[in-house]
Amino acid sequence: MFLFFVLKYENRHIYKSGNEYVWVGDSMDEKTSRDQKPVSDNIKQRQLDQFRISNKGKPLTTKPGVKVSNDSEILKAGVRGPSLIEDYYYFEKMSHFVREEIPERIVHARGYGAHGEFVCYQSMRHVTKACFLSEPGKKTPVSVRFSTVQGPRGSYDTARDLRCKGAKFYTEEGNYDLTTIAMPVLIVQDPMKFPDVIHAYQNKQDEGLPTATGAHDRFWDYIANNPESLHMVTWVMSPRGILRSYRMMESWSINTYLFVNEKGVATFVRFVWKPVLGVHSLLQDEAIKIGGLDPDFHRRDLREAIDRGYYPEYELGVQLLPMEDEFKYDFDILDPAKFWPEELIPVHIVGKLTLNRNVDNEFAEMEQIAFNPANVVPGIDFSNDPVLQGRLIVYRDTQQHRLGSPNYDDLPINRPICPFHNNTRRGFMRYRIDVDQVNYRNNSLANNTPYTTPPEQGGYASYPKRVSGHVIRGRSESFNDFFSQTRIFWNSLSPIEKQHTIEGFSYQLGKVKSRSVRQQNVNLLVNVDRDLAHIVAKNIGVDPPKGTHVDVSTQYPSLSQENSPKYAATQKVGVLIGNGFDSQEVVNVLKFLDQNGVFITVIGENLNPVVGSDGTKIKVDETFLTSSPYLVDSIYVVGGKGTNQAKFNQDIAYYIRVAYEHYKPIGIATTGQQLFTPSQHNNLAGVVFAQNNPNFGRDFVAAITQMRFWNRT
Ligand code: HEM
Repeated sequence: MFLFFVLKYENRHIYKSGNEYVWVGDSMDEKTSRDQKPVSDNIKQRQLDQFRISNKGKPLTTKPGVKVSNDSEILKAGVRGPSLIEDYYYFEKMSHFVREEIPERIVHARGYGAHGEFVCYQSMRHVTKACFLSEPGKKTPVSVRFSTVQGPRGSYDTARDLRCKGAKFYTEEGNYDLTTIAMPVLIVQDPMKFPDVIHAYQNKQDEGLPTATGAHDRFWDYIANNPESLHMVTWVMSPRGILRSYRMMESWSINTYLFVNEKGVATFVRFVWKPVLGVHSLLQDEAIKIGGLDPDFHRRDLREAIDRGYYPEYELGVQLLPMEDEFKYDFDILDPAKFWPEELIPVHIVGKLTLNRNVDNEFAEMEQIAFNPANVVPGIDFSNDPVLQGRLIVYRDTQQHRLGSPNYDDLPINRPICPFHNNTRRGFMRYRIDVDQVNYRNNSLANNTPYTTPPEQGGYASYPKRVSGHVIRGRSESFNDFFSQTRIFWNSLSPIEKQHTIEGFSYQLGKVKSRSVRQQNVNLLVNVDRDLAHIVAKNIGVDPPKGTHVDVSTQYPSLSQENSPKYAATQKVGVLIGNGFDSQEVVNVLKFLDQNGVFITVIGENLNPVVGSDGTKIKVDETFLTSSPYLVDSIYVVGGKGTNQAKFNQDIAYYIRVAYEHYKPIGIATTGQQLFTPSQHNNLAGVVFAQNNPNFGRDFVAAITQMRFWNRT
């Protein structure tokens, strides 16, 4: 199943032009998914098609539809005279322009997504009557938006942050929105705290900096003084905070929901998305540098993979807990700052989401999409998880503000695929023309329609959970263990993940100016791990904290990325090449890489094609200047002749040094041998030489599959 996408892959990167030339490279600039035949034909896409408009080849008109004769000059009294106020067309053009932005999301402002389809693997009717999970093979259209939380819309993708995924399932029973985060725990235990943590994190209160990072005094002041937040922050400081790709992102619902079956029996449930490509991360140094080199790194990566036909896939898992087991564990299953260990509460995989269509209009499809955890369908309900309860009213409130109208559900991207009828008629931007004059109930004039539907015929009815208790502002004592699970997470990390987590803490706390805040944080961190706290204390120049960590030795393999599947397919190789390369050797290698689904970026000294020993030409995608060793997962050093040989060699040496230092696979072609000096490198693991190696292609693909070679220094 995992390699499904490789089999259906078409060879698009290498083709012959006449008999003479082989061109390698991707013509992404000419062909994108929007120009191709729609790859996914589902009911939601057909609905969206009604709103998709192409303006190419059409006359320019005013908004009311009058053809325009001049779109370049304002109306004037003489060509050198003053402008005329009667230029209504100028006013129309300009007044639209100055209103082109809407308020950005207060959190998750930066994001991007795609469309796809969810296929159910197995019937879940024994636990939920949700129709989209009712039978194997059942397909449901889905739109997805990934996002960071901290930064504004114009910030960068690779910032260390908690990445999120909103998935809107357009089911035949109405929209179901599943919101998840790339960590299984939340930074707050009570929704009342959410504005506080975001105020501290975003730094919007005064000077407006820094952007897109929590590496500043106020955020860490918050953490030190709100110990419940340490658990999620430890996840964020780990490699989970700097993912390689949205395609490689695991994400959890965090909140506990209820499944309810036909018989009215409820089960606690948490959801998790498991990426088929496994979970993989950048290094901190890469994440920071890519922020400048390509702020759109993640959205470009998602778009490119879909355009090339390598559709990102995620399996949906559910963790189920019978109601009678509510108090079985040593953590509170309603506490959003605690995860449900897979090893204790297994994940059942129930289906797969495939993203197979890029967006055409980011604003219409992604800025206007509105996810809401309150959007559930019959068979899904809410537990008493306090954060979930708090979220249920927040989203509609903020979206009415952000999108400017209570009618936003009717925007093409948000509207359900099933019919929807209600008694609303007015409000800003009303699209529908509801022709009935009776919009109240009970009525006799319309025979009391639109009518209500009994639960047994599909009407939503809330699960009749029993509630009791005194009115109180308070938090359950069962939420008070902040350190045990944080330590379990730490115990579960591999040595290299631990090292990277130490770097994460040391970098972020190293940016904190207040010594007191730095000290308070290591004093808190010592509860998780003494060594971790002592190393970080040394790195950030504060006293070693007193005391030691909680006495917990449990660890769970599921929490480490080390155990994640790895594939060569969709990883990027940068081919460093000049004229005079060995045509046969290089073309064979590129073909082999291509057949294995490796994404090839050919990098040369300029954008002219490079010419090989027998006249074969290869298309160059990027130059040494426009690309970077940070933007590829591996390099293939071909070398050759440059216009300025010294500069050419120097550029390649830089790519080799950075790739080597970031533990990336390096393939060396026969002609590239002279550019790589083995004796200058302490460990040649992951460096694959073509010279005298008939299996070079296979060995290089194996190295690319392994992704990193941590033994190097
Ligand atoms: C008290 C807790 C929380 C509050 C107050 C809160 C608030 C918000 C707000 C105001 C938005 C912006 C909505 C919009 O403008 O469309 C948002 C979006 C979102 N939230 Fe939360 N949130 C909370 C917890 C969570 C949790 C626990 C998760 C998931 C596990 C989550 C996942 C998301 C996602 C996926 C989005 C959508 C981003 C998008 O449109 O792409 N949030 N949240």
